[in-house]
Amino acid sequence: MSNVYNINEVAKIFNITTNKIRYYEKKGLIEPLRDIDNEYRKFNDEDIIKLQSILLYRSIGLSIKHIKDILNNSSNNNYLNHFNNQYEIVNSEIHKLTDIRKSIGKILDNIYEADDCSIDNNILHIIKHADELNKIRDNWKDKWDFDNWATSYDNDVLEDRGALKIYKNYNLILDNVYKLTIDSEINNPYILEIGVGTGNLVSKFLNNDFAIVGIDQSRKMLNVAKQKYPQLKVRLGEFLKIPYNDKCFDIIVSTYAFHHLNSMEKSIAIGEMIRVLKDNGKIIIGDLMFESKEDEERILKGLSMEQIEEINDEYYSHIDFLQDEFKKFNKILKYTRVDNFNYIIEMK
Ligand SMILES: C[S@@+](CC[C@H](N)C(=O)[O-])C[C@H]1O[C@@H](n2cnc3c(N)ncnc32)[C@H](O)[C@@H]1O
Repeated sequence: MSNVYNINEVAKIFNITTNKIRYYEKKGLIEPLRDIDNEYRKFNDEDIIKLQSILLYRSIGLSIKHIKDILNNSSNNNYLNHFNNQYEIVNSEIHKLTDIRKSIGKILDNIYEADDCSIDNNILHIIKHADELNKIRDNWKDKWDFDNWATSYDNDVLEDRGALKIYKNYNLILDNVYKLTIDSEINNPYILEIGVGTGNLVSKFLNNDFAIVGIDQSRKMLNVAKQKYPQLKVRLGEFLKIPYNDKCFDIIVSTYAFHHLNSMEKSIAIGEMIRVLKDNGKIIIGDLMFESKEDEERILKGLSMEQIEEINDEYYSHIDFLQDEFKKFNKILKYTRVDNFNYIIEMK
């Protein structure tokens, strides 16, 4: 037989106020029975278990509305949806708060060290810089709708129907990125793939027992990758907000993904990759690039309107720009040309 508790007993069990319990009831999260004689609430064991779940979900920041939805629908998809949402929210907050902490640290250094007259200006300048960085991070949007492309992506790569034939060397590029990674002198590297997509590159590492995790900003791409390679660990994540702590990985790899960032975003992404990379770590990226602005202009002259439009829909890198960006971190960038548009860059 189920135990019965009154509201005060329940409040005591969880060390919460009776008001909080009434609030959850008002919001429709719990529906305790009422005593027929005095209308007092009566909680059974099921209510207690439900209340415990609600409090635990609250403790990781889930909203009342979302908790209600989880309690009403415990399908795998619904869980995935809510926990991915929450993962994204928490990750964004961590990035934002980390930047704010960094800024306040810099401000404190300024106050301790600067002469009085420059303090006000410096403080505002530091805050403005952090604010701008945060806005760029938050404003990145998937304007290509990768979710919608996820199930047909592998086939489209095979057919390579675009005007530029950017996938004609797809397998060669993935193979070369893989080879460069395993040729590195790092023993048992922990690898991160960014923009893992449907998992075609990651599969090479998995097949050879490398420790690798894949992040992507598209949930549907992650679903496809996970279906194809159930053993793969995936996380929702972006170049601009990599959801890992500092110095986690030995090597970062990526193919056909970096060109979805404009120059400003690329520069932030480079900082992000270096942040999560261990000292002496490596970055190997296969992607669409030109050696320089001049190189782009020269190549564009020989292309059709349709091909130029295809290029303008994305942000092909200029390698000389990337070299300058990596130089800011004292890193050297080597590159190899695969075809007119595809290059492999290697930072070590
Ligand atoms: C053209 S697909 C390439 C997929 C896979 N890397 C491959 O080589 O087949 C681009 C992938 O990068 C992901 N992507 C694009 N921009 C991204 C970003 N800013 N952060 C993380 N992933 C991104 C997309 O969601 C998509 O899965």
